[in-house]
Amino acid sequence: MLTISFNSCEKLYLQIYQNMKQAIIDGYYLPEEQLPSFRSFADHLGVSINTVKLAYQQLLDEGYIISKERKGFFVDKIQTEIILSNSSSIEDEVYITTYPVTHYQFDFSPNQVDMTKLPKTKLKQAAFDGMLEAQAVKYPCKTGEFNLKKEIVKFLFQYRGVKTSVDTIVITSGFDQSLHLLNQLFTHPIYGVENPGFSFDRFKSILYPNQVLPIPVDQFGFSVKDVEKTVTNVSIVTPNHQFPTGIIMGLRRRQRLLNWVKENPNRYIIEDDYDSIYKYSGKPITALKSLDETDQVILLGSFSKLIGKFMKISYIVLPNTLLLLNQTHKFIDYTPSVYSQLTLANFMAKGQFNHHINRMNSHYRRKQTVMINCLKKFPGIEVVHQNSGLYLVIKVDYRQWDLDAIQENIHQNHMKLETISHYHLNHQCSNYFLLGLGGVEEHRIESALQKIFTKNCLIS
Ligand SMILES: Cc1ncc(COP(=O)(O)O)c(C=O)c1O
Repeated sequence: MLTISFNSCEKLYLQIYQNMKQAIIDGYYLPEEQLPSFRSFADHLGVSINTVKLAYQQLLDEGYIISKERKGFFVDKIQTEIILSNSSSIEDEVYITTYPVTHYQFDFSPNQVDMTKLPKTKLKQAAFDGMLEAQAVKYPCKTGEFNLKKEIVKFLFQYRGVKTSVDTIVITSGFDQSLHLLNQLFTHPIYGVENPGFSFDRFKSILYPNQVLPIPVDQFGFSVKDVEKTVTNVSIVTPNHQFPTGIIMGLRRRQRLLNWVKENPNRYIIEDDYDSIYKYSGKPITALKSLDETDQVILLGSFSKLIGKFMKISYIVLPNTLLLLNQTHKFIDYTPSVYSQLTLANFMAKGQFNHHINRMNSHYRRKQTVMINCLKKFPGIEVVHQNSGLYLVIKVDYRQWDLDAIQENIHQNHMKLETISHYHLNHQCSNYFLLGLGGVEEHRIESALQKIFTKNCLIS
């Protein structure tokens, strides 16, 4: 068993992780070899079991090891081979960096899209045409290609109830870039962001920490009463499908938010419209932007949930005041490649995109039904958000279920399954789980849920 001489500067689990990783890379542990159990390794090193668990989790996340049900942890074969073959290629002076990728056996992440249903042939044709057209573009437009903007304008009208023109659209490579661009355009912005909400770390990597104020989310969504008490001048909200709770903001709250913004012409609302298209019952939800009479709502949209993350195409609908300012920032180019923009434009122009969305809507609806029917078989589990978006939110009664034991099952089965607490600044709501519809195939949903909610997790 590996012996480690610990230093006092670094956390113990990190030292164990680093030593184990090096031992795997050096071939001390061979592919498919079983690692020592938590207890025996902890006894050997004179540390707590939890410390060893944390080190193994890190190795698991980075793909160096895998876990096998009821057997324990093993060195990942593929990962080791990649690392070993890389080190030999150094001799040829070919330097390749490999980034270990985590492969989950079951991925319930709320952000995963079901890629098995992508219309690959049609996308291939759109990409071929896009490549030819892109070659003819001598001067790419710094706010995005006209053909794509034109299709986005049509899409916004049809699916989001928003009337706008090509001139207001700026194409970017994702949410981070959109926020970065907007941050250049505002004067002294202080952002009010939802708590729980979409990764504060992500905001803070773009904005200064003191620019971001957490605003609570109540049963109706972003709490306007709380934002009114702050110096916020830009509210970042997900009114059409609050992330992560899934709450759809009703008309009254929308109007109150719009009243807040109208009080001052220097205030803005950033409407993050990231997951609002899929709807499994009831009427479609129109964007807040469609009610914006004073042109103070900035709409951010993305194709990540509709086609896939690989597309990396997002857009901003800019109000006229910011549009003028953007002219002075002409030199900043945030656009993805002309080729990918024109590929998407072709896919949309031929009606294939609309067809794809309709098909996926039925597909996710079916998966959601399968999931809900399976969940009904477990006591003390309530579906609290369904009917729209790419994930379900379930509430697990902590008086009936041992949440630590559930987490252990998730970990042992190499699953990705998040709770609202991951997105809450105070880590609240750890019994609210987000069950993504995209990452697990329909026929594996039932067996995956059975692996999570096992009888031994029930508190008798
Ligand atoms: C709430 C929310 N907003 C924005 C984004 C970012 O989207 P993009 O892929 O455009 O960066 C995500 C991505 O998962 C999200 O969950």
